[in-house]
Amino acid sequence: MTDRAADVAINRALWTVVNADFTDARAHDAWAAPEFVWGLFGNHEQRVGALGDVTGLDVVELGCGTAYVSAWLARLGARPVGVDLTPAQLDTARRCQDRFGLSFPLVEADAESVPLPDDSFDLAVSEYGACVWCDPERWVPEAARLLRPGGRLVFLTNSVQVTLCVPEAGGHAGDRLLRPQQGMSRVQWPDGGIEYHPSHGEWIRVLGDSGFTVEALHELYAGEDSSTPEYYDIATAGWARQWPVEDLWTARLTAAV
Ligand SMILES: C[S@@+](CC[C@H](N)C(=O)[O-])C[C@H]1O[C@@H](n2cnc3c(N)ncnc32)[C@H](O)[C@@H]1O
Repeated sequence: MTDRAADVAINRALWTVVNADFTDARAHDAWAAPEFVWGLFGNHEQRVGALGDVTGLDVVELGCGTAYVSAWLARLGARPVGVDLTPAQLDTARRCQDRFGLSFPLVEADAESVPLPDDSFDLAVSEYGACVWCDPERWVPEAARLLRPGGRLVFLTNSVQVTLCVPEAGGHAGDRLLRPQQGMSRVQWPDGGIEYHPSHGEWIRVLGDSGFTVEALHELYAGEDSSTPEYYDIATAGWARQWPVEDLWTARLTAAV
C-alpha cells in the first residue's frame, strides 16, 4: 500500500465513523437550511459575498460530504456535482436528495484525482472538504484542471490561528499558541485523520503555482448572538469573537500552467 493509499484509508474510515456519530443525523437540518451560511458559526453568504451570483454555473464540490453545500448551490440556480471519498457520506447525501426532491450527480472519488473532464466547471467549492483532507500540492492543481479559464475556486478551512491554539487531545482552542506553525502543512492528530493546514503564504504560493490569482481571504468570526457548536469542539463562540476561526479563500483561474 502506498502512503497515499494509507492516508486515504485512514480518512475514509474516520469519516465513516463521523457519519454514524453525527453527520448523518445532522444532514436533514443542514439540507433544510433556508440560507447559504459558512462554517461553524453560520456566517451568511449574503453578507460575506464570497460566491457571487452562481445562477447557471457548473459547480464541483470537492469533498462534499453529505452535500448540503451543493444542495444550497442548486437552490441558488447552480448545477453542482459532489465529489467525496466516503461511501457513507454519499449514502446520506443520496437519501437527502430523495427526501428533498433535489437531484445532482454524486461521484465517489479522491479529490486529488477526480474522474471528470478538464475544463468542465465554472466554480470549484470546498467547505472543510479537500482543502483540509487533501494535499494542496495535488488537489489545487486538480481544481485548476477541472475549471474553465476564468473559473473560480472558493474554499473554507480552519484558520491558521485556531489550528495553532487547539489542544492536541481535543477540546476548544485557548488563548495560547500550542505548537509551531512550521510543519503544520501536513498533520495527523492523535486518533484523527491526516489533515493539511498550510500557512497563508503557502496557500498563496500553491494557488499561484496552479494559475490562480487570489481575490480575497475572508477571515470569519462568530457573530454576537452565535452559540458554541455542539459536535465539533474547535472553538467556543467567545474565542471566535476575538480571533478568526475560519479562513474563506476565493481565487480565480487567470493563467494556464
Ligand atoms: C467536514 S466534511 C466536509 C463536507 C461537508 N461540508 C460536510 O460537512 O458534510 C469532510 C469530507 O471530506 C471527505 N474527504 C476526505 N478525504 C477526501 C478525499 N481525499 N477526497 C474527497 N473527499 C474527501 C470526507 O469523506 C468528508 O465527507
